[in-house]
Amino acid sequence: MVLIEITFLLLVEMSWLEAADKYGTFLLSGSNLEWPSVAEESSDILFGRYEPRKILVHGFQMDDERAYVAMPRFMKTGVPWSLGVFRLDVMDFEPDIRPYPDYSNYGSCGGRGTTTCIVNVVDVYIENGVLWALDTGTINVMWKPLRQGPAQLISVNLTTHTVIGATDLSVITWPDSVLEYVVAVRSLCGRLNVYVSDVGRHKIIVYDVDTGSLHAIQLPETIPMDSHRRAVLHLVPVGVAGRGYLYFTYRHSGYMFALDAWSRESVTYGSVSEVGVKPVGMHVLGSDRGTNVYFRTTGGGNDNDVWAWDVNRPLEVRSFVLVHRSYLYLTPTAVAAGWQNMVWTVESNYDEYITGNVDCTGPRALLRPLNGCAADDSNEIL
Ligand SMILES: *[C@@H]1O[C@H](CO)[C@@H](O)[C@H](O)[C@H]1NC(C)=O
Repeated sequence: MVLIEITFLLLVEMSWLEAADKYGTFLLSGSNLEWPSVAEESSDILFGRYEPRKILVHGFQMDDERAYVAMPRFMKTGVPWSLGVFRLDVMDFEPDIRPYPDYSNYGSCGGRGTTTCIVNVVDVYIENGVLWALDTGTINVMWKPLRQGPAQLISVNLTTHTVIGATDLSVITWPDSVLEYVVAVRSLCGRLNVYVSDVGRHKIIVYDVDTGSLHAIQLPETIPMDSHRRAVLHLVPVGVAGRGYLYFTYRHSGYMFALDAWSRESVTYGSVSEVGVKPVGMHVLGSDRGTNVYFRTTGGGNDNDVWAWDVNRPLEVRSFVLVHRSYLYLTPTAVAAGWQNMVWTVESNYDEYITGNVDCTGPRALLRPLNGCAADDSNEIL
């Protein structure tokens, strides 16, 4: 039995290393951070701002050269910067993660005039050369949330790597707001709207970039927060025949909804339609920005597998295709289209992390392309 397992592991390792050769696989760990200089590093260690065991990559985006990673401050301390960057290089399996856009945006930020202080980036989204970062302003979210600043939507120019906007979301959030995801979708006439999910208030916040205005769309469904302490409101961008939609669903809800994001009126008035009833527990991870929505199942057997659902097909089990298998017992937390025109996934021991059961090697995350596993497995969900 042991022998079989070892052989199996070896085969698996060999096959993913082969894929890694071609497209790259990146092991992301809190032990591999890169400070501007030793002085900052020593000070972060000295003042308890850096504890590798508290750092876990949860979300990401990519452009042609770099990956941008969200490392949320789930706890009070230990994460010196919640938004990191590294250069994508197939040969660099364990890249060093640098603060983004700059070290001065973090830590003892403030009192330095115009610098934008970033408290806690929980999600990122790239649209047309701009990175949108959702800073909740709140830390220690897993236990007792502590507010350290206003929630804000930060935009960074990916050519100059400078902050070009910071929109205060205080006017549209409440003490019970819980902000989780950020997605940007253009309307048919090219207007850009940035959407933020507020699971605590059952709303989607909309930021109209051209006018700089904010409004919130009340969702058709509410879920009792007490029964789901870790309630999640997933947002995914979908494009069908040139029209942009924002699909959304609560993790514990049986329904999938869509907002027409292509029309100005429907975004203003919140024109939402029910897409269907989820045939299995679906934990949505992302999309390819086209018609494929990626998710993992919940409550079944292989809950770490990634499935694709083409939204042009009915929301039924027979429409689902198995696209990725996480052999390494890691849980996918995000899927996004990115580098080399591949669809990538970030997988980690997130479940162990949130239950405080991380072993001595600490939290670790793997960023790699979907491995498009064997087609003959694709009906296993039944
Ligand atoms: C980003 O910076 C580049 C170089 O200065 C500029 O050409 C581009 O228009 C900027 N993009 C945005 C969205 O501000």
